Amino acid sequence: MSGPEVIARADAAKVSSILRNVIDNAMRAAGSQGKVHVVVREQDQYAIAEFWDSGPGVPPSERERIFERLVRLDHGRAGDAGGSGLGLAIARGYARAHGGDLSCEEPRGIGAMFRLILPLEPRQAGVH
Ligand SMILES: Nc1ncnc2c1ncn2[C@@H]1O[C@H](COP(=O)(O)OP(=O)(O)OP(=O)(O)O)[C@@H](O)[C@H]1O
Ligand SMILES: [Mg+2]
Repeated sequence: MSGPEVIARADAAKVSSILRNVIDNAMRAAGSQGKVHVVVREQDQYAIAEFWDSGPGVPPSERERIFERLVRLDHGRAGDAGGSGLGLAIARGYARAHGGDLSCEEPRGIGAMFRLILPLEPRQAGVH
C-alpha cells in the first residue's frame, strides 16, 4: 500500500463491514489464482475506493439487481459455500446512510469493478 492518506467521515465498524463484504466477494470471484486490486483516491469532497477483480465479472443487466436482498448469481452459487446474498444490500445501505454510495461499474477490461464513495472528513475536505 502506498500514496496519500484519504480520511472519510464514517462509522469505522460500518466501513469495515462494507470493505469486508466487497473484498470477500472479489476474492471469491477471482479464485485462488486471481487478482484483486483496491485503489483509493479523493475527488470532489469524496473518498473513492475502487475494487477490481479478475473473476467472471457481473453482466450489465445484473449490476443493479445484485444489490437486492438474497440475489446471488449462478457462478456465485456454483463452487463455494457461499453466503446469503445480503452483503451488498447491507453494504449499499451503510454507504448511502453515510451520504455516499456503492455501485457496480463497467470494468476497464475483464472482471468486476465496484466503486464505494464516502464524504471526506470535513476538516480535510478542500485541503489538497
Ligand atoms: N466481484 C464480484 N464478481 C462477480 N459477481 C459478484 C461479485 N460481487 C458480488 N457478486 C455477485 O453478487 C451476488 C450478491 O453479493 P452479496 O455480497 O450481496 O451476497 P453473497 O456474497 O452471495 O452473500 P453474503 O455477502 O450475504 O455472505 C453474489 O452472490 C455474486 O453472485
Ligand atoms: Mg458478499
